[in-house]
Amino acid sequence: MTEVKPVFKPNKEFAKTARIKNMCEYQALQDAAMEDYEGFWGSYAKEKIDWIEPFTNVLDESNTPFVKWFEGGKLNVAAQCIDRHLSSRKNKAAIIFEGDRGDKQIITYLELYYNVNRFSNLLKNEFGVKKGDRVVIYMPMIPEAAYAMLACARIGAIHSIVFGGFSAEALRDRIADADAKVVITADGAFRKDKPYMLKPVVDEALNGETPVQKVLVVERNGEDVTWTAGRDYSYNELIKHQAPTCDAEVMDAEDPLFLLYTSGSTGKPKGVQHNSAGYILWAQMTMEWVFDVKENDTYWCTADVGWITGHTYIVYGPLAMGATTVMFEGVPTYPDAGRPWKMVEEYKINQFYTAPTAIRVLHKSGEDEPAKYDLSSLKVLGTVGEPIDPPAWKWYYEAVGGSKCAIVDTYWQTETGGHIVSPLPGATPIKPACATFPLPGIMAEILDPQTGEKVEAGEGGYMCVTRPWPSMIRGIWGDPERFVKSYFGDVKKDGKPVYFTGDGAIYDTEGYITITGRTDDVINVSGHRMGTAEVEAAIKKHPNVAEVAVVGKPHEIKGEGIFAYVVLKSDKGVADEVEEVKAINNVIKKEIGNIALCDDIVFAPGLPKTRSGKIMRRILRSIAKGETITQDISTLEDPSVVEKIEKMVKA
Ligand code: WT7
Repeated sequence: MTEVKPVFKPNKEFAKTARIKNMCEYQALQDAAMEDYEGFWGSYAKEKIDWIEPFTNVLDESNTPFVKWFEGGKLNVAAQCIDRHLSSRKNKAAIIFEGDRGDKQIITYLELYYNVNRFSNLLKNEFGVKKGDRVVIYMPMIPEAAYAMLACARIGAIHSIVFGGFSAEALRDRIADADAKVVITADGAFRKDKPYMLKPVVDEALNGETPVQKVLVVERNGEDVTWTAGRDYSYNELIKHQAPTCDAEVMDAEDPLFLLYTSGSTGKPKGVQHNSAGYILWAQMTMEWVFDVKENDTYWCTADVGWITGHTYIVYGPLAMGATTVMFEGVPTYPDAGRPWKMVEEYKINQFYTAPTAIRVLHKSGEDEPAKYDLSSLKVLGTVGEPIDPPAWKWYYEAVGGSKCAIVDTYWQTETGGHIVSPLPGATPIKPACATFPLPGIMAEILDPQTGEKVEAGEGGYMCVTRPWPSMIRGIWGDPERFVKSYFGDVKKDGKPVYFTGDGAIYDTEGYITITGRTDDVINVSGHRMGTAEVEAAIKKHPNVAEVAVVGKPHEIKGEGIFAYVVLKSDKGVADEVEEVKAINNVIKKEIGNIALCDDIVFAPGLPKTRSGKIMRRILRSIAKGETITQDISTLEDPSVVEKIEKMVKA
């Protein structure tokens, strides 16, 4: 059954000047794409991108799923984000930065141009970085992180950002997989008024054999770090000697722009590859359509550049459209849960984009905080990363948005490059916790995995995209087979494989899409994807562990928490449970990072398995949730373990 959700109509005043003003306009765009798919995308590509040379073909599907968009076209993504704005916006703020301690910087488009050019010259001339080289960026949320990305794009190097919360081991793996020759990092940064460090993690990751030849260190917090002669260089020193202009490399539409590693259902993270033209086109178009940012607006996305949201909606999308984007180093609850609202008031933020986990934290720790500030500048509120729960939605809508702002519940993922299902703030009547409809040009459908037919209202199915779109993933770095298998193996429509997101979804009777969550062994912790297999592989490195199964468990703030069932080797009894839990979490911290620490660890006598040895995760998920097991367990290899584990979890 589909529940009937209340509907909130778009703000009439807002809709008057919105880029897409009503559902008729939305439908017309979607119909246009349906009738002439290549015409639709081709005309936007012509209009939105500053081509160095025009493309000759819109879409080549001859080697699907390896598709090519805008072949023959030449461009430079950094020039698209900076140079083309200089004639009309050179003194406009491109980036407004606020540090953890309240320090501020406003970087105009002209300043951004010089900073990125100098950075490009540094990489090229001091480090010998060339087109196609991979550069790993392991940085805090400071403007230099954006400069680093854009400098790579300017000289045609492929960046791969590793989120600052990942451990040395995780960083080492990603560096090795991408065969990166340069790492850009910082000494560290500030969090809750205290310095924290990144450079020592890089040092550890480069210990032993490594493809990395040079490390560039931005001195942000001024703490002492170790310098390896001939390898490590201070950005603050080198940048002083760089020329302020640097020619932008002429790139093919399908030249890779960046890699971003994400979790899948096996232990090894995948290097999701995005290419130049298609990615930047959709980044820009969704900024315009979904956030409807206007020339004088100030837009703030609270993500970290280490995730796809930070790539597309802090750096590339906003800059491509010539917007003012806010970058924040700190945490939303420091010094108190009023920090974001104080910033909204001070900078007169017009669009605010964050994750449900942050909304829940801000709600729980500062329910009345928004009322203390003037939030009247806000027009659009965004949410991303996981299904948002109705209470959090309601608070966001009422307390933050004053019941007058559209909430855009944007559904997408690392692989989609940009939003694929989302309300349009001036057009879509929204329903709480509902991603609503596919964006114009995106052929997203919920399909029955068995038949490949579109499902009926109320029946769950698989969230798929049936035609390639410009910003879609182009491959998994170094593993074309895994690319095909991961995304084009599960669902066929009319006999042809279609892109499957890995998420389940459901239509209501009005055709609204609600995302119900992952259908694979991937859990969503605070809006970040974590493969259970990845966490299991880490835990297995502990010498006492014989077997382990990891599942997700609903968590009040994080959405999902990590629950591990650990079977210790028979000769190693649990001497001290507290110590053993600590030891296991230490292994996770070392192998992946703090973001993958377990919320619960249970030392089980065994795992529920079928006679063929398959672990019954469904049972383990139910036990973790505290549900009573009703399914037939008599066919398990050892049914008695279920009861034993249930008792342990309840105790
Ligand atoms: C997964 C992608 C997209 C940027 C941040 C995370 C879940 C994302 C929503 C939403 C329900 C959502 C999906 C998706 N997800 N947005 N609005 N409603 N679920 O990127 O790490 O690639 O994770 O996040 O499960 O597959 P990611």
